[in-house]
Amino acid sequence: MKILRILIGLLAGLLVAAALAMVVVYVVTNRHLNKTYRVEVPHIVTSDDSVTLARGRHVAEIRGCTQCHNPDLGGHVVIDAMPLLGRIMSANLTSGRNGVAAQYKSDEDWVRAIRDGVRPDGKPLVFMPSYEYRSIGPADLGALVSYLKSAKPVASPPLKETIGPLARVLYLLGRFPLIPAEMINHTDRTFTEPQPGETVAYGRYLAGPCAGCHGRHFSGGKVPGTPPGWPLAANLTPDSATGLGSWNYAQFSSFFDTGRTPDGRQVDPKVMPWPVVRAMTDSERRALWEFLRSLPAQPKGSG
Ligand code: HEC
Ligand code: HEC
Repeated sequence: MKILRILIGLLAGLLVAAALAMVVVYVVTNRHLNKTYRVEVPHIVTSDDSVTLARGRHVAEIRGCTQCHNPDLGGHVVIDAMPLLGRIMSANLTSGRNGVAAQYKSDEDWVRAIRDGVRPDGKPLVFMPSYEYRSIGPADLGALVSYLKSAKPVASPPLKETIGPLARVLYLLGRFPLIPAEMINHTDRTFTEPQPGETVAYGRYLAGPCAGCHGRHFSGGKVPGTPPGWPLAANLTPDSATGLGSWNYAQFSSFFDTGRTPDGRQVDPKVMPWPVVRAMTDSERRALWEFLRSLPAQPKGSG
């Protein structure tokens, strides 16, 4: 009986320790979530002419905005894993019911949210991948904001977000991009945008977001932040053993439309967002191809 009492005592002690640890996790993460950022943003030019709006819509498609915020920009639940991870919604970007557009007073407010991950009130956005949008050039960003401002009002349910304990712990361990504003150097204003064309330079510009998963040198490997067992990102360098060495342009372009590789493998759009790249024009695909072809062949997973 004595041993049982000791065991119960131990168990109770462990529970109290776990509860205390959780309190610390919540206090620390809430402090990060409530931090106020002051960031200065570059000036952009917006307009409501139809060429600019069409360009902005295209940028929203090929950068994945419409995938997370919906084609009508009304937003939806992007993570729904209660109670552990929580429930995170992408915002309704329109001026409809529960949309954010009414709080956005200037173009700078939009730029700050998109490039810096910071709301008009200075608080950080959660899980909005602004670090991927630092490289969007001024003309594209101007067109994108013009398009967002022109969106038809869409009504959405109220934003009720919960950030669960697992998301907080993973964030503190550096394994979950909960607060992208913390991952960004807000004073870096370098902002380049090569002339559109079927060139290596423009392909490099378009390939910016691919690097987040395929690696800085595009040789693939583990996708940061994914659970064990998640498919490795493919090697996009021209290596013939593990990369795209044996692909031709027609096969590359067709992969964008179907998600099917030349050897007939169907790639899951949740793992590799090929429906996003499907929106790229032939000319953009060619630029990407020229860029990937210009890379040195590297074995898979070398960065
Ligand atoms: C991986 C999904 C994802 C993608 C891709 C994405 N967003 Fe977001 N975005 C979110 C989430 C989630 C939020 C809500 C953040 C919050 O509530 O703190 C958000 C918030 C925003 C906000 C701020 C809304 C507010 O509450 O003030 C803007 C503006 C925005 N996104 C624009 C864009 C644009 C433009 C793009 C494309 C360049 C884009 N997003 C791509 C997930 C995404
Ligand atoms: C969210 C992460 C992610 C992003 C962003 C991403 N990819 Fe991928 N991609 C993957 C993963 C993971 C695979 C491997 C899928 C598999 O093997 O089932 C893959 C596979 C591919 C393949 C198929 C190659 C093969 O042999 O299987 C091509 C081509 C490709 N990606 C090109 C791109 C390009 C170009 C971009 C940018 C425009 C891009 N990817 C952006 C994760 C991503």
